[in-house]
Amino acid sequence: MKGIILAGGAGTRLYPLTIVTSKQLLPVYNKPMIYYPLSTLMLAKIREVLIISTPEDTPRISQLLGDGSQLGMKLEYAVQDKPEGLAQAFTIGKDFIGDDSCAMILGDNIFYGNGLNAKLSAAVKMADKGQATIFGYYVEDPERFGIMEFERTSDDKDSGLKVLSVEEKPANPKSNYAIVGLYFYPAGVSDMAANVKPSPRGELEITTLNEMYLQEERLHAQLLGRGFTWMDAGTIDSLRRATNFVCMIEQYQGMSISAPEEIAYRFGWINKEQLQESADKYGKSPYGEHLRAVLEDRIVL
Ligand code: G1P
Repeated sequence: MKGIILAGGAGTRLYPLTIVTSKQLLPVYNKPMIYYPLSTLMLAKIREVLIISTPEDTPRISQLLGDGSQLGMKLEYAVQDKPEGLAQAFTIGKDFIGDDSCAMILGDNIFYGNGLNAKLSAAVKMADKGQATIFGYYVEDPERFGIMEFERTSDDKDSGLKVLSVEEKPANPKSNYAIVGLYFYPAGVSDMAANVKPSPRGELEITTLNEMYLQEERLHAQLLGRGFTWMDAGTIDSLRRATNFVCMIEQYQGMSISAPEEIAYRFGWINKEQLQESADKYGKSPYGEHLRAVLEDRIVL
């Protein structure tokens, strides 16, 4: 399975913070925002990732993350000239995806909670079987999101819940469950995405793509329930909340979360020497210190 991080957009809701830098490079507490979605794809055991961003920001992100070899991964980059919608990621990424299944995560989405790995691996398995998976999260302001209506009875952990409808920012939402910015699709998603027509707001909506899978009875949902936190950090207020959240978790647990080098090391994608190199690169920062704690086996999971 391949993965895409969609890190585009002008970030105007964060102006002036994003006038000269990418939203996804802003700090969420002690690390750049993009470390969080990258970690989530890694937890799904995805090692080949395409990062899509604006013409200005793509070089900056690639300066930060490089070709991914320091993570035992392969990172590629592509440009989205204009923010024309999330579904466009799959046509931009057509050659990269090839005949594979593909997951996509939005560059400002942060996931945290025990049990995430199991949900991700269920979604990977479903994609192998030709099925798409979306994730639902309870919100109090459903007008702001893509919303899913689902059957509550069949909480089958492996195949997920049956989706009844999906709607983009509905005026009269049918549920309080937002479709978060993490999507898993089977092989063929680029061809499917090529048929998405622009919405009234002029965007190639991910919700239209999900609707197509729903019509073919190939769309399922996993719930991110109690004990789980999902945030998008795309506004000043949500960015502040995300920073406060990560700070609190890290201080209470006494360790970093969403450290890509640590995940790569624990999965055996990189060896001790490579982790040491990264730890040296991060120097005396708390992030570097965390990697040294992992190296010296002071943190046992
Ligand atoms: C986008 C999607 C929406 C989804 C949300 C999650 O909204 O269109 O379906 O619920 O991301 O962050 P946007 O960020 O474009 O408002």
